[in-house]
Amino acid sequence: MTRTYNIAIDGPAGAGKSTIARAIAARLGFVYVDTGAMYRAMGLYFDRRGIPMDDEEKIRGACPEIEISIRYRDGIQRVLLNGEDVSDQIRTEEVGHLASACSVYACVRQKLLNLQKQLAATSDVVMDGRDIGTCVLPDAQTKIYLTASAGVRAGRRQKELEEKGQFRSLEELTKEILDRDERDMNREIAPLVQAPDAVYLDTSDMAVEEVVEAVIAEAKKRGLKDPGDKMPL
Ligand code: DC
Repeated sequence: MTRTYNIAIDGPAGAGKSTIARAIAARLGFVYVDTGAMYRAMGLYFDRRGIPMDDEEKIRGACPEIEISIRYRDGIQRVLLNGEDVSDQIRTEEVGHLASACSVYACVRQKLLNLQKQLAATSDVVMDGRDIGTCVLPDAQTKIYLTASAGVRAGRRQKELEEKGQFRSLEELTKEILDRDERDMNREIAPLVQAPDAVYLDTSDMAVEEVVEAVIAEAKKRGLKDPGDKMPL
């Protein structure tokens, strides 16, 4: 009997979590689980239904109508909202804000918690989000708190958007990132905080490969034998 090996990566918007988590998963042969995408799909649903994000009662009422599931196509996570693949539509700044706004509600978080726990129990995963090391996978063998200065994060976001043909000013993006940090870090339920047993990594001056190496080195210190090896129970 073996236990799966779980790497939890938490941090604020634009810290590079998904780039790093995806690269680590590829190196180790782990499954990458992007939990932000699940919250984004929930936000998209409420928005399509015309439910304002400050209307908790309507959000609570709509939660039972929503079914979020995950598929992997060519090793890439796809998010299904009531059976519809919304993976591409959720990758906008606007949907990121909708996700942040609806993620403050218990009914929204509860909806996704079991799915996230179940994925980590059945596969070796690198899971990223805001509450992975603190709430979703408190027993994850390796926990990382990944961050970077707001200016660096806004610059990275600007570049990402530019590659998709969307042009935004650095000032605007920095403000949006700070607003999102404020809400994600100060909400009542499962706020973004560094878990006491997480390693703090400021990636402002680090290259992607350096960060990947640092996380894998930490995982080895915490019992990861060889890429793909499982921990004995
Ligand atoms: O990582 P992201 O930008 O895709 O996440 C979008 C929002 O979803 C984020 O601002 C807050 C919420 N979220 C959360 O509350 N808990 C998670 N584990 C992941 C995301």
